[in-house]
Amino acid sequence: MSKPFYITTPIYYVNDVPHIGHAYTTIAADVLARWHRLIGEEVFFLTGLDEHGQKVQQAAAKAGVSPQEHCDGLTPQFQTLWQKLGISNDGFIRTTDARHQAVVQRFLQELYDKQFIYRAEYTGWYCTFDERFWTEKDVDNGRCPDCQRPVEQLSESNYFFRMSQFQQRLFDHIEANPSFIRPESRRNEVLGFLQKPLEDLSISRPKSRLSWGIELPFDADYVTYVWFDALVNYISGLEYLPPRPSLDRWWPATVHLVGKDILTTHAVYWSTMLMALEIPLPHTIFAHGWWTMDGEKMSKSRGNVVDPYAVIDRFGADAFRYFLLREIPFGQDGDFSHESFIGRINGELANGLGNLLSRTVTMIQRCCPGTAPTPDPSAVTGLETDLQAAAESLIQKTLPHHFQRIEFNRTLEAIWGLVQLGNQYIDKTAPWVLAKNPDDAKRLQTVLFHAAETLRFLCLAAYPFMPNTAREMARQLGLPYDFSQALLKDPIAWGAGESGATVVKGKALFPRVDAPATPSSAQPQPKSSASTSKAEDTLIGIQDFQRVELKVAKILTAERIPKSSKLLKLQVDLGTEQRQIVAGIGKKYGPEDIVGKTIVVVANLKPAKLMGVESQGMVLAAGDEEVQGLVTLQEETEIGTRVK
Ligand code: MSP
Repeated sequence: MSKPFYITTPIYYVNDVPHIGHAYTTIAADVLARWHRLIGEEVFFLTGLDEHGQKVQQAAAKAGVSPQEHCDGLTPQFQTLWQKLGISNDGFIRTTDARHQAVVQRFLQELYDKQFIYRAEYTGWYCTFDERFWTEKDVDNGRCPDCQRPVEQLSESNYFFRMSQFQQRLFDHIEANPSFIRPESRRNEVLGFLQKPLEDLSISRPKSRLSWGIELPFDADYVTYVWFDALVNYISGLEYLPPRPSLDRWWPATVHLVGKDILTTHAVYWSTMLMALEIPLPHTIFAHGWWTMDGEKMSKSRGNVVDPYAVIDRFGADAFRYFLLREIPFGQDGDFSHESFIGRINGELANGLGNLLSRTVTMIQRCCPGTAPTPDPSAVTGLETDLQAAAESLIQKTLPHHFQRIEFNRTLEAIWGLVQLGNQYIDKTAPWVLAKNPDDAKRLQTVLFHAAETLRFLCLAAYPFMPNTAREMARQLGLPYDFSQALLKDPIAWGAGESGATVVKGKALFPRVDAPATPSSAQPQPKSSASTSKAEDTLIGIQDFQRVELKVAKILTAERIPKSSKLLKLQVDLGTEQRQIVAGIGKKYGPEDIVGKTIVVVANLKPAKLMGVESQGMVLAAGDEEVQGLVTLQEETEIGTRVK
């Protein structure tokens, strides 16, 4: 049987609608789950909801409904979001599930019977928001050291778990297992935390103060502390959710993904609970960083919370998934900035991967209609062997290495390295030029074959991150891939692509985003101005300018149009296609002056006829009546690049 891979996300509080933090961890877990299924491992991916405790009780009271009604009402908000984001979880747990509650009670009873739980009077400083007591030395000027809200002194009889007994054992375990807590900086934080004396943990709440929780099996006046209840989900879920429920099969978990703020509860509370229950510890607890929005902490009161629903509706799930994992190293904090998001969509997704697919499919359709390109060994050059080596090394070495280390941004960097190589390959080999000469037929087929193979490798590599995109790529490339199968279980060989596959041109993978947009729930309103000056009437907005699609092009051929001293007929290369443009530059330039020049053209102008010759664009040149010079580029620039 294959190696099992059990991955979890935190279970989310249902006190409010889902936000970017929930989406982030869940997407990351999904990418890992998809990768491990793709390489043939048996995967169980668990996510769900944390439904008990003070936060949920308060939110329900505020909404004027019972806590259960409140949870039932919000659950679809999470489930629908996961569907929209393409989350492939195998289980969805709710802590109000009767079977989860039964496991929590069983564990409590076991620990109570083993005398790991005792009752004691406790006086301390209580933070209602964090639902926890702090000691005198923790409290910061009457405020909670964690959330900075005021704390109140409370004296209460409660049940305690003898967490302190496990301090040394936990410390030793962390020291002996470098991959138990990751990244390393977080591991050091936990080791630092364990240098101070570890206290016992209050695991009960009197019903008089909080009634929304799982009743203690040995005292009906108390409910279970929400964290004790919630952490047990990682085990209870295995007892009733997988297709073949089995603790032995799945436990210990391979990875618990958590945010940095809930690392202590996982690394310390959960680990010591497991030790007391004599259950092995998970292999890895990985703590990721937090997102800010345009440099500021996200909060409802600031109105800068990123609403995942709004982002998906505007940019699509795959672009969101890509951005979150590409922008910052997993484990570090990062900023969600619109400029950066749109920059990556346009640069890396539309111009990078989208362009590579579209130009390849277009050329294959044009040059080998109805069939697939067939390579000819005599036409293979160093360019092809380099491309092949890069693609094979990406799939066979780089991806397994980075996925193993949970380095999403490095993985994506490596995949986009191949995207870039693929685009450069097409620029260098210029298949549209080869297509003109029947003597180059073998070379043309070889080039198109290698471009298609590169895309096949890219489609498999991109699948865990962007499942919809990978499916669309496979469809356009004519690959009969069923991504629910372990397509990378056995090494894939270059050249073993589905030869004979018929490509089908489809829509652009990623439409370019032209207008700056705010994908948060807080859409800034346009500023109203009391008076509009005359000068402003003639000004255009950036959106107006961006409607003009300017692109870098190369002049392939030029000839004079008979009976015109001014017009030249040009064939230009636009990267993805070749166009005919009639330009009024004939008085300034002869054909011989301009062939081979890199220029800028308007690529989305309606075609028109000039002296009976069709023009499919416009060349940019300076001058009014008389042309003074063509617009060219100072640096060598890839053909087809957008000019802004
Ligand atoms: N219910 C507990 C977890 C119990 S697990 C046994 C909980 N829930 S939560 O809904 O408040 O938070 C869930 C996750 O969202 C945490 O991992 C937290 O780190 C993450 N995030 C909340 N805001 C975030 C950002 N701004 N950025 C990234 N992640 C953030 O805690």
